[in-house]
Amino acid sequence: MNNVIVVASGKGGTGKSTVCICLSVALVRQGKKVLLIDCDCGMRGLDIMLDIEQDILFDASDAVCGNCSFGEAVYKSKNNDNLFLMAAPFDAENELSPSVFRQLVASVRQNFDYVIIDSPAGIGSGFVTACAPADRALIVTNAEPTGVRGAVKVRTRLEALGIADVRLVINRFDKRLFRRLGFYADLDAVIDASQTQLIALVPFDLNISVVMQQGAASAAGGAVFPPFERLARRVEGERCPLVLKGML
Ligand SMILES: Nc1ncnc2c1ncn2[C@@H]1O[C@H](COP(=O)(O)OP(=O)(O)OP(=O)(O)O)[C@@H](O)[C@H]1O
Ligand SMILES: [Mg+2]
Repeated sequence: MNNVIVVASGKGGTGKSTVCICLSVALVRQGKKVLLIDCDCGMRGLDIMLDIEQDILFDASDAVCGNCSFGEAVYKSKNNDNLFLMAAPFDAENELSPSVFRQLVASVRQNFDYVIIDSPAGIGSGFVTACAPADRALIVTNAEPTGVRGAVKVRTRLEALGIADVRLVINRFDKRLFRRLGFYADLDAVIDASQTQLIALVPFDLNISVVMQQGAASAAGGAVFPPFERLARRVEGERCPLVLKGML
């Protein structure tokens, strides 16, 4: 099964961590068991976003150094029985090498339907490590030239790393801002410039931001937003609309 997915972006702050959490919650709601791995060493945040920051005793580097078993570095999310987190090392100097991270994921992936990996922004060493075990990738961008240029760079790097199954998530999309900026004639122009097939268009939505900041993704059942529900279905290989009436 090609179900280890890395979520990356060239530019920072495009919404990788948000996509990781919302996609994972949506997959769980669709009956899947999901392990989220935070690979943003030194800058981890998924533990806060899932509101289990206080629970974390061991992270991925503890698991590979033998400070704990692999299982002890996997934490269950609050109220979502099938959503689990492995935290990134708190300190950047404990960043894992690509080969060690690949082995770590190989030893835990059979226990889950999906492993979703949150990459640091850019194409540096942390990104290379995050990609090492991945079967496929999602690139998260905004609909602006800086994000799009970053997306192209990430795509090129992913291909060099041997990851051919790459899809684009356009996040924080605001149709009025998009028209006013006028960088692109339409959404197709963004997709063409990104050189990557679109898998989801996620509008800017204050509720998404609030839920992420408040750790509410781990509230009973998890908050699931329709664009991420559709993303999860497309990740599963189902056909469903990319863009709904009114989004553009
Ligand atoms: N669709 C959306 N609508 C509104 N706000 C969003 C949306 N997606 C993400 N955000 C907000 O944008 C900010 C950045 O999101 P996030 O932390 O997920 O980005 P990131 O790519 O992981 O950042 P970094 O590169 O620093 O790791 C957060 O405040 C988040 O709540
Ligand atoms: Mg992040």
